[in-house]
Formats: sequence, C-alpha cells, structure tokens
Amino acid sequence: MLALPDFPWDRLVPYQDLARAHPGGIVDLSVGTPVDPVPPVAREALAAAADSPGYPLTYGTPRLREAAAGWLRRRHGVTIDPADVLPTIGSKELVAWLPTLLGVRPGERVVFPELAYPTYDVGARLAGAEPYATDGLLALGPERVPLVWVNSPSNPTGRVLPAEHLRKVVAWARERGAVVASDECYIELGWEEHPVSVLHPDVCEGSHENLLAVHSLSKRSNFAGYRAGFVAGDPRLVRRLLEVRKHAGMMMPAPVQAATVAVLDDDAHADAQRERYARRRAVLRPALERAGWRVEHSAAGLYLWATDGTGCWDQVRALAERGILVAPGEFYGAAGRGHVRIAVTATDERVDAAVSRLQ
Ligand SMILES: Cc1ncc(COP(=O)(O)O)c(C=O)c1O
Repeated sequence: MLALPDFPWDRLVPYQDLARAHPGGIVDLSVGTPVDPVPPVAREALAAAADSPGYPLTYGTPRLREAAAGWLRRRHGVTIDPADVLPTIGSKELVAWLPTLLGVRPGERVVFPELAYPTYDVGARLAGAEPYATDGLLALGPERVPLVWVNSPSNPTGRVLPAEHLRKVVAWARERGAVVASDECYIELGWEEHPVSVLHPDVCEGSHENLLAVHSLSKRSNFAGYRAGFVAGDPRLVRRLLEVRKHAGMMMPAPVQAATVAVLDDDAHADAQRERYARRRAVLRPALERAGWRVEHSAAGLYLWATDGTGCWDQVRALAERGILVAPGEFYGAAGRGHVRIAVTATDERVDAAVSRLQ
C-alpha cells in the first residue's frame, strides 16, 4: 500500500467541538472554501449548457482555451497561444497527478516549498517519487530533479515571490532540465503586493520552455463546487498532459466548460468578490493584532499567517475558546509549528463576530 500522510484535519475535530460550544456559534476560519454565491453569469451559462449528452473534449472547447488565454493576457500580461491551455477538474487533481502525468520516476525528488499546500507532497508519493520540501534550491547541489513547485501567492503564508526570485528559479530549473510548475490559484488576490505569473515575460524571458502555470477558478469565481481550473505553458508539456489525460478520462464536464468560459470572460464578478475579501481582511487583521497576534507575510491570497509566540496548537485552542476555528501551521510543514493560518473565507456576519470576540 502507498504511504500517504494521515489526513490531518481529524486532529482539529476537538477544537471544532470547542468552538461550536460558543454561545454565538462557531466562526470557521480553518478552511479556504468560498462562502459567497456563484456569480449569475456562471449559473446562466451552466444552465444553458445543461443538455450535454455527448462526451466533452479533454482538450476543452476552443472557446474555453481562448477565454483562458484572453484572461491571462488581460489580467496578467501573459501572451499564450490558446493551443497551450488545457482544462483541469479543479486544480487539486492536477497538483496531485502532475508528477505521474509527467512521468516522474520512483526515487526522483519532487521539490516544493517548506510551508506548502499538502497536495504537492501527496503528488510526489502517488508517483512513487520522493517529496522534498525546501526553500533553498542551492541545497540540492548538482542533483537533477524532474519537477519544482512554486506557489505565489502562497498557501498558507500569503507570501508573494517577486519576478526576480521566480526568474532565478526558472533559470536554475532550465539549466537542469527540470519543469517548474507554478501554482497560481490566488494570483488575483494581491493586497500589499502584486503577484506575477511564471509565464510573464519579466519571469520567463519570452519562452515558456519547461514552465507550467496552474490556475483555478475556485477562489476567483466561487467555483470550488464546479471543479474548474486549467494548466498552461510549454506546448510540449501541455501536449504530453493532454495525451495522458485523454487516455485516463480526465475531462472537465461540458456544462462546467461553458460556465468557465463565462467567468473567464467576466471581470466584474471577480472584482466584486475581491472587494468582499478585502473588507473581511481589513477588519480581521487589526483585530488579531490588537489581541496579541503578529501577522507575517500575508501580502496576498486568502489567509492571514499569524503567531502569538506560542505553539500552533495552543493558539488553535485559545481561538477555539472564543469560538473561532483556525488551522495549525503544522499542517503545512514543520516550519509552521509556531503559526496559525486564518482564512478570510467566512461571511461578513461571521467575520464581524470574530472581530468582536477578539476584543
Ligand atoms: C495552493 C493551492 N493549490 C491548489 C488548490 C486546489 O484548488 P482547486 O482544486 O479548488 O482548484 C488549493 C485549494 O485551496 C490551494 O490552496
């Protein structure tokens, strides 16, 4: 049997019970799941495409690939041929299967950040490869690795990697023939800093060779329930992924493809959603600081990465006693054991409840 990490969320259950016992009810800031409505443009497109009896294209409709390329150009200054875009069923499945789809071999090391979304580790294991969490590529010395993940803005820290940093990672990887997969699912949620795509000319210097950008509609468009994302980049790699995914039946449902076109073409709903998160973040952050937490990084994305100087489980308990459930930093790597991750994905009413309990 494959050795996969224990699902850590079970360890949070006693604190969830504690928070639920609060007379004002729980404020659950432990997960980054959207709570606001799916935009009407998406629901209408989904309904209009409901009569879809035939198999959808694994490659996606030409309209979907154009919409993704158009969004990358309009919002992120990235020029890409629509042919080099491939829809995915949300981005988590792609993160989990990318090493396997790329043919990473047992014993090879898949590199990802020290503090990271746990699925990079899982993906390495599913391929029989070695997960390797490091923020210092130089520590690898001359070793050749097949795949390096970057994630900016980061889950859990909200840290943004500047173009110069990403450029160095790309140069390092290209020298060794490694693929850089850049998980950019929070790219539209820059607050104090402006996130940049790995496919931006300032980073990739005009070539997408060895690069894949992984995108998700879950956060931008409240689409987590629809399961919609895409991967874009190096034509050779995208063709390879398409080939394997066709054989494996990894295709986005046709009505979801239609809804995805609608949200990629529309910026108004994404700007409105961004404003909701900006407001929640603007009230939560100072409330945490007044209550004794120091917020670090958190320049972008959906999370506040915070510490009061004690261990992460003590902080989880202290907040659960006030009815607020957060995630212990340890879930994202050993380096997170002194921090908690606080998601801004709760309704205004729940966020305001948290703010008053922190006073
Ligand atoms: C860093 C990161 N990557 C990928 C995902 C997966 O998102 P989805 O599968 O909804 O596209 C998440 C979800 O929270 C995430 O935080």
